[in-house]
Parts: sequence; C-alpha cells; structure tokens
Amino acid sequence: MHIELTNTPIDNIKSDLKVIMVIEKDFSHSFIHDKKLLKKSGFKGDQDETMLFLEHDRLYVGVEKINSANIRTAAASAIRILLSTHYSYISIASYMNSQNCTAMLRAMTEGLILGAYRFETYKSKKRISPVKKITISLEEYHGYSLDMDICTRTLNHAKIVANATNFTRDIVNTTPDDCYPSVMAQIADTLCNESRLECTVLKPKELKKEKMNALLAVARASRHRPRVIHLAHKPENPKAIVSLVGKGLTYDSGGLSLKPGEYMVTMKSDKSGGAAVLGIMKAISEMNLPIEVHGFVGAVENMIGGNAYKPDDVLKAKNGKTIEVRNTDAEGRLVLADVLAYAQQEVKADYLFDLATLTGACVVGVGNYTSGVMGNSDTPKSLIIEAAQSSGELATKLDFNRYLKKTLKSEIADICNISNTRYGGAITAGMFLSEFIDDDHKDKWAHIDIAGPAFVEHEWGENPYGASGAGVRMIVRLLEKLAK
Ligand code: BES
Ligand code: ZN
Ligand code: ZN
Repeated sequence: MHIELTNTPIDNIKSDLKVIMVIEKDFSHSFIHDKKLLKKSGFKGDQDETMLFLEHDRLYVGVEKINSANIRTAAASAIRILLSTHYSYISIASYMNSQNCTAMLRAMTEGLILGAYRFETYKSKKRISPVKKITISLEEYHGYSLDMDICTRTLNHAKIVANATNFTRDIVNTTPDDCYPSVMAQIADTLCNESRLECTVLKPKELKKEKMNALLAVARASRHRPRVIHLAHKPENPKAIVSLVGKGLTYDSGGLSLKPGEYMVTMKSDKSGGAAVLGIMKAISEMNLPIEVHGFVGAVENMIGGNAYKPDDVLKAKNGKTIEVRNTDAEGRLVLADVLAYAQQEVKADYLFDLATLTGACVVGVGNYTSGVMGNSDTPKSLIIEAAQSSGELATKLDFNRYLKKTLKSEIADICNISNTRYGGAITAGMFLSEFIDDDHKDKWAHIDIAGPAFVEHEWGENPYGASGAGVRMIVRLLEKLAK
C-alpha cells in the first residue's frame, strides 16, 4: 500500500474512491457531496462511524472533534472498510487545522497503515489487500495550506513509525514455538544487516560470565536457551544517549508457580517489551535520528521441569543483590534486574527506559488500554506521558511510596521477588526494579508497564485483535523530541 502527497485539490484527483471525513458533524462543508443521501442513510457523523456509497464511490467517516487521535482512528476505520471492497486507488484530503497541520497528516498516515494491519501467518488462505495507492491531497481545509517539504518529511516519519509498530505486532503475534529467544536474536541480527545498527548477542556462556544469574535461573527449565540482545544506533555527535530495556519472555507459563489455564493463554505476548525495543530501534535507524540509542532485550522462556528454578530459591543478581524467590511467575522482574544492570554497565545514558508486560495488577488498576509509568523522579516519567499523549498512546503515572517499599522485605535475602500484600502490585514490581538502578541512573530511569495495551483480544481504535505494538510510537516520539 503506497501513500503519496499531492497539491491537487481532492475533487480533481483521479481515483476509484474518495474518503471524506465529516468533521464535527458539519454536513455543510464543500467536501460533502451527498448531504441528502447521508441524512437519509441515518449517518450521524459519530466518531469512526462509516458510510459507503458504492454508486458514488465515496466513503464517509465521522470525526467528532478534530484532533490527532480522532483522525487516526477514523482513518483506521475507513481503511478497514476498504480492505473488504475492490477499490485500488483511493484519495483523501489532509484535514489540517490551525494549530498543528502536520500532526493531522501524521495521524492520518499512521491510522491508514496501522488500521490496514492483518496478521495472517497462520491462515491457510491469505487475503490480498485491494488497496494499492492512497493519495492525500494537501488542498487547504480551513484556509491553512502546507509546505510540501515539511509534509513529505512528516509523511515519511509517519510511515516509518507505523511500519515499525506493525513489525513489532508481527513478532508479538508469532507463536512461542516459532518465536523463542534465539529467533528474537535472529530478528535483531537481520535488522542490523539491513541497516547501520550494531548488534551484539549474548549466549548462555557470556551470560554466566556477566553473572546474570537471575535471568539464567528463569531460563533454566526451557529447551530454548536465553539470549540478551544489544542493538546500538550510534550517529556522530549525538544530542543525547538513551538506553532502552525490553522484557522478552517468549513464553510465560508461570514456571513452577504455574499459571491457571485461562491465564496462560496469550502469554506469547510476554515478549512485547522486547519486541517493542526491536521496533523502536528499526524506526530510529530508518529516521537516522541524531541521538545515540541502545536497545537491550532479555529473551527468555519461563517453563517448568525437573531443573526449574523454585519458590524458596535465593538468586544472586548481576549487581550482587540477593533475591528470595517466592513466586516463579514474577519472572519478568528477575530478567529485567539483570538486563538493567547490564545496560547500565555497558552505557552511561542520559535516560534509561524499560518496557515490560510486568504485572496483571497494572491491567486491573488502569485497564486494558493504558500503560503504567513509574520511576524515582518526575522528569523521565513526564517525558513519557507527554510523548504518549502526542503519539496516540495512553499512559498514566503510578507513584512509588515508602510504605509499599517495605512489603518487598525478605527475612533471608536482600529482597523478595513478590510483595507481601495483594494490593499495589504494579507499583511494588516497579519498586523491585528500582533496586537494580544504580545511583547514577536513579533520576534518569522510568519503567513502563505495558501489560494492558500490548495485547488485547479485540479491536480498539487503530489497533487490531492481538498485539498492538504498544510503546513503539510513544518512545519513538520521545526520541524524536530529544533529537530536536
Ligand atoms: N507476564 C505476567 C504479567 C501479565 C499478566 C502480563 C497479564 C500481561 C497480562 C507476569 O510475569 C506475571 O505473571 N506477574 C504476576 C506477578 C505476581 C506473581 C506477583 C501477576 O501479575 O500476576
Ligand atoms: Zn509471570
Ligand atoms: Zn511475565
């Protein structure tokens, strides 16, 4: 599906079908040729509502209030309708508004690419997308015309970030028997061969040498050996240095603290943080941002077996702290403890962010669609929240406090891997991670729990059933801002 820009007015473009957005229920706009028919059809212009007039080759879609998020989901709704038709060449206007014209263009492009995503790897009959080309007209909407160069750059960045999100979705949706730690490493390796990214992969021998014993314990019962992946984007004279760490549990059975059957399904998605880091690295290298970015992924499978790690074990993490294991299903924090320590040893960064499907508690607390943002200091947290908002992702802060901190105390080791209270599980998990952040990085770190939005079993907004690619758009947006 090719997307291009033109200065030609929408009504002069030759196409098979026009997509027309009905903005703020304003049926009197000159773009709307089927005013009477629309009324007759019962179309109200509600957000994401669609109406296809086959005889006129026009598809209408409602946008209740003009903003990026609404344009994005409306574009996604429109493209979903078109995928089940036989229209090949589509035209659409750019609907710029006064404050931020290019934001609408970016949102529209993202909505089209994200909405057109389908995961059909395991379908024996694959559908072929009928849509070949979409032409976006930069004809002025409310008297604001746009600079072609700026728009071309915006279009390009939107394509890169949306395709990187789809790349992440593909990895997450792939089954645990087809995507295990060495496969994640292969994906990273292929990414490097196609770009200027540098790639290092640590195998068990190196992981032992690096004393990543917590990670190795989680990995022990799996027939798939673990990997730690390090990707680096290193431009000359970078404006900042950022490290990203992703939880890449290619499957989380819970280990000996086995998950009940109905909680185990969808746990192929426990690699979403790691897959997001791979997608982010792909995007920033394609954008060639003037900022140094390191992506670390802890790729591990949490299984059961005679050599599995156990509740009651005490593990010594890379940074020397000892951890009493009381639940083997709280494995993500063990893997991250070691990978965070490794990342800090390898790179002295200006910012350190980790992305993880860390707790069911985060989903209980803030719902399916929102990420929880935690950390010791407000600056990195606010950066994330702001970037999430402008990128179309939902994120909210969850504050640490000293009372919950006490619930992680262990009688026999430095810390427990679970808290002694059933409440506040997202925050206690975040505070566990903070034990593995050194003093130099304390105020530079934020933890993003993406357990809710990473994988949802229904369509929502621009996201399909299954993997959403959560984290990719928000972090790329943040890195673009730091690169300015
Ligand atoms: N991968 C899960 C968290 C999760 C749950 C992600 C639901 C996505 C959807 C994590 O490893 C886990 O099992 N956490 C436990 C922690 C508990 C044992 C303290 C949880 O949330 O129940
Ligand atoms: Zn778990
Ligand atoms: Zn997990």
